[in-house]
Amino acid sequence: MTETIGVVGSGTMGNGIAQVAARAGFDVVMCDLKDEFLQRALKSIDKSLQRDVDKERLTTEEKQQVVGRIKSSTDVSALKDAAFVIEAVSESLEIKTNLFNQLDTITQREAILASNTSSISITRLGAATTRPDKVIGMHFMNPVPVMKLVEVIRGIATSDETYERVRSLSEKLGKTALDCNDSPGFVSNRVLMPMINEAVFTLYEGVATRESIDGIMKLGMNHPMGPLQLADFIGLDVCLAILNVLYDGLGDPKYRACPLLKRYVDAGWLGRKSGRGFYEYAG
Ligand code: CAA
Repeated sequence: MTETIGVVGSGTMGNGIAQVAARAGFDVVMCDLKDEFLQRALKSIDKSLQRDVDKERLTTEEKQQVVGRIKSSTDVSALKDAAFVIEAVSESLEIKTNLFNQLDTITQREAILASNTSSISITRLGAATTRPDKVIGMHFMNPVPVMKLVEVIRGIATSDETYERVRSLSEKLGKTALDCNDSPGFVSNRVLMPMINEAVFTLYEGVATRESIDGIMKLGMNHPMGPLQLADFIGLDVCLAILNVLYDGLGDPKYRACPLLKRYVDAGWLGRKSGRGFYEYAG
């Protein structure tokens, strides 16, 4: 029998995870609070798969089969038979702990509960359940269908068996799992966010223009996007929230967010999603 993967949250990360899981042959149940969010997510999955149809890497029939493996529901009890549930809801400790508590009662005892959090403690999420040994971080990168990494985070109580099951699942999804222990920002954001923050400081201090800063890092370091462009892609509010997690969690002033980043977030200039960040975006 095909294993079912549950995905909670159908935003950019959630729908990307659902797409990759369905493409790998799993049955997927994708949950969100409102049907309109789910419909938007299904549209975005369709659009993303269409790129592969256009490039003749997927037939229209195969695309329909992938989409057909994704069921959507506004009721989390639809996840009761899932072998794995991957949570990708908003980055709020309260929302996530409440959800983990609920998932713990709904799902089968042996189901693994994973979080796609970019910075919230997996140990704390585990403590919200009666199965902290089966709670783990599966941190996918955006855009999920393209990026090869799953950063796997072990909470203090995560068992080796859970880690092995998640490593094997990541491989089946066509990804490479690299593990780390539970610590603020894990590895990815502990390394990435100070670089982005430093780029914002160079702009703030007038060291260079946005184009120069990004161009230097693209052409000089072979980064696919410059750090300011990447910050816009991730979301400036998300970058600020992660920097605050690093600052509070590690207690080191080197993680202090640049005032310019705070000012942009205050202005609602959140990057691509709001049409303006360090750059302006049409439509
Ligand atoms: N769905 C499916 N495929 C997509 C896609 C999507 N949403 N977006 C891009 N692609 C595919 C394109 O179809 C194209 O495929 P082929 O090369 O096979 O034809 C390929 O990706 C490259 O896309 P483009 O040619 O359109 O554009 P590009 O070369 O500029 O690449 C990019 C776009 C892949 C996003 C690249 O700019 C990149 O890698 N950027 C950095 C992304 C990154 O660092 N992500 C991590 C952010 S941090 C994070 O997610 C975690 C956190 O906690 C903050």
